[in-house]
Order: sequence, then structure tokens, then C-alpha cells
Amino acid sequence: MLNILHTIKEVRSQIKEWKNEGFTIGLVPTMGYLHEGHQSLIKRAVEENDKVVVSIFVNPMQFAPTEDLESYPRDLKKDSKLCDETGADLIFNPDPEEMYTKGFCSFVDMNGPTDELCGKSRPIHFRGVCTIVNKLFNIVTPDKAYFGQKDAQQLAVIKRMVTDLNIPIEIVGCPIIREKDGLAKSSRNTYLNKKEREAALILSKTIFMAEKLVNDGLTDADKLKDIMKKNIETEPLAKIDYVEAVNFDDISVTDTISDNTLVAIAVYIGKTRLIDNFLIKRK
Ligand code: PAJ
Repeated sequence: MLNILHTIKEVRSQIKEWKNEGFTIGLVPTMGYLHEGHQSLIKRAVEENDKVVVSIFVNPMQFAPTEDLESYPRDLKKDSKLCDETGADLIFNPDPEEMYTKGFCSFVDMNGPTDELCGKSRPIHFRGVCTIVNKLFNIVTPDKAYFGQKDAQQLAVIKRMVTDLNIPIEIVGCPIIREKDGLAKSSRNTYLNKKEREAALILSKTIFMAEKLVNDGLTDADKLKDIMKKNIETEPLAKIDYVEAVNFDDISVTDTISDNTLVAIAVYIGKTRLIDNFLIKRK
């Protein structure tokens, strides 16, 4: 039976009960408006743990004042149904005041893996992500936590944070789930009108094309990025934020495409910023 809790105190008490019974716990942190991408993480967590907690919290700290905090889509009723059907045991859905009490002034931050890609155009974003994920880890104290490859830099950042801060939680990365036509599923896809939705396909098309070029032997990152940029520019509604090739472990820019290279893009379609990527895995 799915339970929905809103306070840290209630969650801690439930977790204590489960731990006393010897249950393992999986955590899937989300901002809600759940789709099959989130659902794949929850499914995996259900397979691998006795109890699964899904946190649903639109975290103000990871949005810049110019970003879409207010308009970010929310639908707790629909989310609860999806969590229930997928086998989650608990939704943790706190208010911002519960997570950020008066006088809040502590942060978890990082240099290096947050400098490139999304960190460049969203300078405060990962500080917000690291801080909230750390808080969720401290509240839920899971054995395993699940993150999507869709936000590949976020996954790399969380892995680094857990290593650096000796957090005893296994981080599980899960593959990107796409719409039938290729577009990576995202809560932000709901911002797109019909024309923009069509134009948004330029992201996945460019990723698939690049993946093929790499599989066919292209190793020069500049050449690859150039071809990708030119392809994106054929779409009039698209505006490139970045097209980059980095080492997946530390998100440092690389000039050679090889094993563990992450090729990542961020593109504005109208006002909506979308991301996509692929990871080269040869071993
Ligand atoms: P959110 O965007 O809701 O995503 C929650 C998790 O779902 C992330 O780990 C993300 O990578 C994963 N996800 C989203 N779309 C996916 C897709 N198409 N395929 C596979 N996985 C997908 O990421 C966040 O929330 C927040 O930054 C959070 C970690 C919750 C901290 O606030």
C-alpha cells in the first residue's frame, strides 16, 4: 500500500520501522510530474529493494530566478497513481518550508564536474541539486539511490559527491527512456507546442546521428561537435546552448572520443531548454 508523507519526522519514523524489520530501502529522488523515465527508475528500485521511497519535491534552490520554478508542472494525484501502480511504498512530498527552515544557510557544492555543460549556463544549479540530494539521503538513509542517464552530468556529480563525502549509498544509473519518435522523455516536454514538439526531434536525431558516426570510427571531438552543431542549426526553432564531449567521470572536456566519453547537448526550442546525450561504452 502506497503511503504519502509530508514531514521529515513522519518519514524518519517509517524508515526506522522498516530498518528494525531488516528491510533494504531504495530512494528515487524526483521533482514530480512523473513519466515513463521516472517510472523506469522506480521499477528498478522495486526490483532491487524491499521498500521504495519516491521523493517528489520541486527544489527551489536549483532554479535560478530567471528559470521555470513557478511554472514547473505539478500533479501529485497522477504521480501517486503511477507510484502505486509501479510498486513504490512511500512518497515523500514536503513543502519548501519543511526542507528549508528559517535561517537555512548550509550548502553542498563542488568544483570540477559542475564547471562544464549545464553548470556553465546554470551556475547555481548543481549546488541546489547536491544540497537537496544530500538532505534526502540524510532523511531517507537508503541503501541504494536511482538516477537517470538523461541527466548524465547530474549522475556524475552525485557519484562524485557520494565518493568524496563517504556517503554509504550505492548510486544506480539508469538508461534514457524516449518517446516512440526518439525525444527523451522530460517533464519539460509539456511546455512545447505542436510546432516546437516537432522541432524538438532535432535533439534525438542529432544524438543518434553522432552515435552512428562514432560507431563508424569518428574519434575527433571537434569534427563531431561541428557536424552536430550544423545539424542542429538546420532547425529554425532551435538555439544551441552547448554541444560538448567530456569524460563521463569528471566531466572534463576531451578532444578525443573514446571509451567513457559523454557526448551531451542542450538546445533551446523556443523558450524551452532541452538536453540529450549518449555515453560511449566499449568495455
Ligand atoms: P527530475 O527532473 O524529476 O528527474 C528525476 C530523475 O528521473 C533523475 O534522476 C532523472 O535523470 C530521471 N529521468 C528524467 N527523465 C528521464 C528519462 N527520460 N529517462 C531516464 N531517466 C529520466 O533530476 C531531478 O528531478 C532533480 O534534479 C532531483 C535529482 C530530484 C533533485 O531535485
